[in-house]
Amino acid sequence: MRIGVLTAGGDCPGLNAVIRSVVHRAVAQYGDEVIGFEDGFAGLLEGRYRPLDLNAVSGILARGGTILGSSRLERNRLTEACENVADMAVEFGIDALIPIGGEGTLTAARMLGDSGLPVVGVPKTIDNDISATDRTFGFDTAVGVATEAMDRLKTTAESHQRVMVVEVMGRHAGWIALESGMAGGAHGICLPERPFDPASLVAMVEERFARGKKFAVICVAEGAHPAEGSMDYLKGEIDKFGHERFQGIGTALAYELERRLGKEAKPVILGHVQRGGTPTAYDRVLANRFGWHAVEAAHRGEFGMMTALRGTEIVMAPLADAVSELKTVPKDRMDEAESVF
Ligand code: F6P
Repeated sequence: MRIGVLTAGGDCPGLNAVIRSVVHRAVAQYGDEVIGFEDGFAGLLEGRYRPLDLNAVSGILARGGTILGSSRLERNRLTEACENVADMAVEFGIDALIPIGGEGTLTAARMLGDSGLPVVGVPKTIDNDISATDRTFGFDTAVGVATEAMDRLKTTAESHQRVMVVEVMGRHAGWIALESGMAGGAHGICLPERPFDPASLVAMVEERFARGKKFAVICVAEGAHPAEGSMDYLKGEIDKFGHERFQGIGTALAYELERRLGKEAKPVILGHVQRGGTPTAYDRVLANRFGWHAVEAAHRGEFGMMTALRGTEIVMAPLADAVSELKTVPKDRMDEAESVF
């Protein structure tokens, strides 16, 4: 069998572990040939690929990023790809394509699959927002990075009697904010799923200072937003000075809290540091298992599916289920973590 593999969308720790696992299972176990397309679907469309043998994937298990490179696919190029699926399969001689990616990639994978390409998807994203799988690899690493950041910020915040507003990734789903906020002992957590009220955060900080605590840490997802009308002063400032002055909700919220509290509030935008570097042991194991099961599914001819974690088992789930809707944080998970929302 000839298997093509590619990584698309935003990178995340664990991608290399999947590539390595696919090659090990396919080449060493089945005697397959594996080729890796470069820079996501762009490599597939432009015929840029390279053979992947055991040596090509040696030493990459713990390495962050992706040895194949990644890119986001533009809509018109996807349509082009779907129209040329049959030609592509013939041109590259692939019997199966394993695209590793998030919601956008899996949507593209589904469309290519519907057009006749034999695809087995592998879900990845630090956001953990893919339906049909309990977890995606990369998430554990991102939560670990954000948690360590909060641990560190607490000591400096306390020395200077400051409020730290830590902005983490998560545009539509607040999983990273929820779990890192919980693990890092944030005093307030703001998620995209529930508009926050700055007045509650102010009350929380004042209550802490009143009982002798001289700092606070607030964890805010990049997609969190204030309740309607609750930050009108800031809205006026943005109208006056433009958005550039308040890049992101973390900066805007710190500004708002400083103004209301009369205490220093510093924004800390963690950004892409959450996606970089070596994956945790948990993410390496999950990535390994996904790679192994993707090859098994290809050999069974189970296409149009993706690997998924259910409890402790890896199962195959239809790509259609994975991309039907994003998995957001349910109310009971918010209630469990609640300090101030
Ligand atoms: O989907 C993963 C993710 O890291 C999101 O959390 C974040 O909003 C986005 O990608 C950032 O994308 P980019 O790397 O293109 O800035």
